[in-house]
Amino acid sequence: MNQAKLNEFISNMTLEEKIDQLLQLTGDYYKGSDISTGPSSYMKFEEDTVNNTGSILNVLGAKKLKQIQTEYLEKNRHKIPLLFMADIINGYKTIFPIPLGLGSTFNPDLVQESAAVAAKESAASGLHITFSPMVDLVRDPRWGRVMESTGEDVYLNGLFGAAMVKGYQGDSLSEEGTLAACVKHLAAYGAPEGGRDYNTVDMSERTLRQQYLPAYKAALDAGCAMVMTAFNTVDGIPATGNKWLMRDLLRDEWGFEGVLISDYAAIAELMAHGVAEDGEEAARLAIEAGVDIDMVTPVYVHNLKKLVEEGKISEQLIDESVMRVLQLKNQLGLFENPYRFADEEKEKELILCDEHRSLARKIVGESLVLLKNEGALPLSKNNQNIAFIGPYVDNKALSGLWSIHGDTDQVVTLKEAVLEKVEGSQFSFAKGSEILDPDTKISGFANVVEQKEFDPKAAEADLKEAVELARKADVVVLALGEHFIQSGEGGSRAEITLPEIQLELFRKVHEVNQNIVVVLFNGRPLDIKEINEKANAIVEAWFPGTEGGNGIADVLFNDVNPSGKLSMSFPYSVGQIPVYYNAFTTGRPLKKGETGHRFQSRYTDIPNEPLFPFGFGLSYTEFEYSGLTLDKKLLSENEKLTVSIWVKNIGKYIGKETVQLYIQDLAGSVVRPVKELKAIKKIELQPGESKTLEFDITEEILRFYTASMSFESESGKFKAYIGSDSDTELFEVFELKK
Ligand code: IFM
Repeated sequence: MNQAKLNEFISNMTLEEKIDQLLQLTGDYYKGSDISTGPSSYMKFEEDTVNNTGSILNVLGAKKLKQIQTEYLEKNRHKIPLLFMADIINGYKTIFPIPLGLGSTFNPDLVQESAAVAAKESAASGLHITFSPMVDLVRDPRWGRVMESTGEDVYLNGLFGAAMVKGYQGDSLSEEGTLAACVKHLAAYGAPEGGRDYNTVDMSERTLRQQYLPAYKAALDAGCAMVMTAFNTVDGIPATGNKWLMRDLLRDEWGFEGVLISDYAAIAELMAHGVAEDGEEAARLAIEAGVDIDMVTPVYVHNLKKLVEEGKISEQLIDESVMRVLQLKNQLGLFENPYRFADEEKEKELILCDEHRSLARKIVGESLVLLKNEGALPLSKNNQNIAFIGPYVDNKALSGLWSIHGDTDQVVTLKEAVLEKVEGSQFSFAKGSEILDPDTKISGFANVVEQKEFDPKAAEADLKEAVELARKADVVVLALGEHFIQSGEGGSRAEITLPEIQLELFRKVHEVNQNIVVVLFNGRPLDIKEINEKANAIVEAWFPGTEGGNGIADVLFNDVNPSGKLSMSFPYSVGQIPVYYNAFTTGRPLKKGETGHRFQSRYTDIPNEPLFPFGFGLSYTEFEYSGLTLDKKLLSENEKLTVSIWVKNIGKYIGKETVQLYIQDLAGSVVRPVKELKAIKKIELQPGESKTLEFDITEEILRFYTASMSFESESGKFKAYIGSDSDTELFEVFELKK
């Protein structure tokens, strides 16, 4: 449809009809099941509004969506089709590891493939837009939503954000099996004070621009069609009513012309934040900030008309927002085909097909992070008596909180995978304990999780059985973790240890057998000091999704050599949080490993360093790094400098390694981080094989927000570090002369 026809729509619509286009409703106003993810008290709508609303949230299924669209179009005067949007975060039916696990792959190409699969499956189920990627940078594992992020590094988040956009949107939205992407949550939602969800975010503009904003921008540069606002404040003003953020920065500075949607009820929440006295003020603030769609509240439909009629806002503002919504519908081809790719046959053919499952299995293999190994791994397929113990040994709840459309029955458990992989009677299996402590209450998820009454007798029997099996085993694999409802939205925790009941299981097993491999299932970095002290080996498995069991068994038995790297630091203790690799040095820095003296920047009771740093992850083989060389020591503008490194597989297994380039600006007009990730290369080497890797350094990658807030580089000395994690001490110095 051409622009003239879209203009015609706007001229022929009443003001009410236009405003209804700016409303998103949940599916329960139409047909069938729906998932609500926020307070529902604001939701009272007239039938006319329901018949004219612009979009629907979180309903899927080709048959159902076609029916809703057909019935809607029969009633809609202008025959403007509905948009269907949903949270397809780590897959639709074929569930991939949670985004924090995807981040651990350090492999954006693979993640792009996973997004393309999610798009294919859900587009066949009638979906048009996914609320992904989430590129919020995270430094506080108490925040439950770190599971939805790819981690603590701005460069990495940008790579993954762009990769996901490309995966969802393909080369063009007219291509079959594509979805429009919506990057979220603008901005800095990942930095709530104290890690408490929806809490205040307060940071300098420099930190915001340097560390937080570039990943959203990277997703937009990759062509992302939509943006979602954040719940939090940005410099004292909630993002959803923040004109500086949404108009000056997003629209004017970045040139974004697409649709901006509020987060769930975030326009109404401008009242709770205390920046709007009533709905009228909330509507005015949001529309003036350029928020096009009101997700599920009646604030726009109840107030915008009055605001226009009283001359408090111009109708032009509404028209602009409606035009953006119509343009998105047009871009998706809905005026020509309102059902787009919804197709029951295709759904059957694509959903959970072998190809998708095998990609999911491969990604699990790359997302697992080997945190420790004193020799218990890999397991042997022969002659080893292995006890698999723990509440995650035969548990299908492996997909994390956002896999709301996934089918738990389709998940492969660790036990199923082990029995499928290795024939023999040398394995034993036991639950050992429940996941949650008896006094932990599950709130807000009663419909998703059935909480059983704690039975102390059964618990005692479970523990006893586990200890007996452990006593007889050569090696124990302990599959432990958080409950999936303990992370995700609204899943903030002040203590981030494993539930006590599982620590007790670990201790009891350890009393009879010290050859323990712990496999962890969790949505955040945890405090695992005790486990780290006592276990022989630790594998971080995150919530790995549909093929979780298979992917983990592949790694445990060395059919796949682990290559995952942490995209978020594991704290030594919760008291260190936030702890992240690219911190400032301080005026009284403490060297790693030193205890220092009282008046140095340090804790008196714990080290400054995290337990496991960003970028860290072991392999069954070993990689040697040497010969770090710069082709020159002086860099000028419009030139490049090449840094090279020789990497050799000196172990006995084929393995993949992510080689990481970090740069430190030794003196700037503002303090600069001790290291910043600038490039990654993931390579595979046979035993004995070596490769020389080259990275280019240009003036452009040395730019930052200077004392005058201009984004530029400054002449001076830099260190170029290369290594296998952010702790690397291998560096060479070069100088930039401008
Ligand atoms: O997309 C989500 C968002 O991340 C959190 N609030 C609800 C939205 C829609 O489900």
